[in-house]
Amino acid sequence: MTVDVVQVRPARTKDAEALASTYEDAWRSAYQGIIPHLSLQRMLAKRGLIWWQNALARRTPLLVLDFGGEAAGYVTFGRSRLARSPFQGEIFELYLHPVYQGLGLGEKLFDGARQRLAELRLKGLLVWALTDNDSACAFYLRLGGKPVAEGGERFGDISLRKVAFAWN
Ligand SMILES: CC(C)(COP(=O)(O)OP(=O)(O)OC[C@H]1O[C@@H](n2cnc3c(N)ncnc32)[C@H](O)[C@@H]1OP(=O)(O)O)[C@@H](O)C(=O)NCCC(=O)NCCS
Repeated sequence: MTVDVVQVRPARTKDAEALASTYEDAWRSAYQGIIPHLSLQRMLAKRGLIWWQNALARRTPLLVLDFGGEAAGYVTFGRSRLARSPFQGEIFELYLHPVYQGLGLGEKLFDGARQRLAELRLKGLLVWALTDNDSACAFYLRLGGKPVAEGGERFGDISLRKVAFAWN
């Protein structure tokens, strides 16, 4: 018998604690120095254990990267929020705990979400990243994403640029 140490699977209620902790560490490491400190602190404070318990109870479409039984990363996805877009699917969030980055696991999560969107018959895929998030932009370009749209996102009194990457 072989046991997969790493797998992409739908989230379970009991993942809430690991997801809350993965979320906090991943967002802090990705956005410290990009998103103003106070805005980032507020975002982190809003998304604690209770938020995750509610999200799982609501059955938010969410896949986790299970590493040895722990949720070391997650991806959320659904119908694209971009009006009149030829890209019907969207990845809303894709985050790995920093310890697990750079090992090919982000690509596994991305592929899992892409497959689910295809099963939902949503054609094409879009994902937004802050332009200053060099690592995420490099990752999406490496996976074949094409920059198709730009926008801005407000954090307190500053606005940061963001870019949408798309796949047919
Ligand atoms: C972005 C993220 C999901 C990528 O996951 P990952 O597991 O680190 O990336 P992978 O190891 O699966 O990399 C897949 C490919 O992208 C490339 N890649 C990943 N990060 C890269 C970077 N910073 N620069 C250049 N290439 C990169 C890898 O080299 C690999 O290509 P290869 O097969 O040719 O070697 C992960 O680093 C992460 O969670 N970062 C913080 C959160 C974040 O920014 N999320 C995105 C918000 S929009």
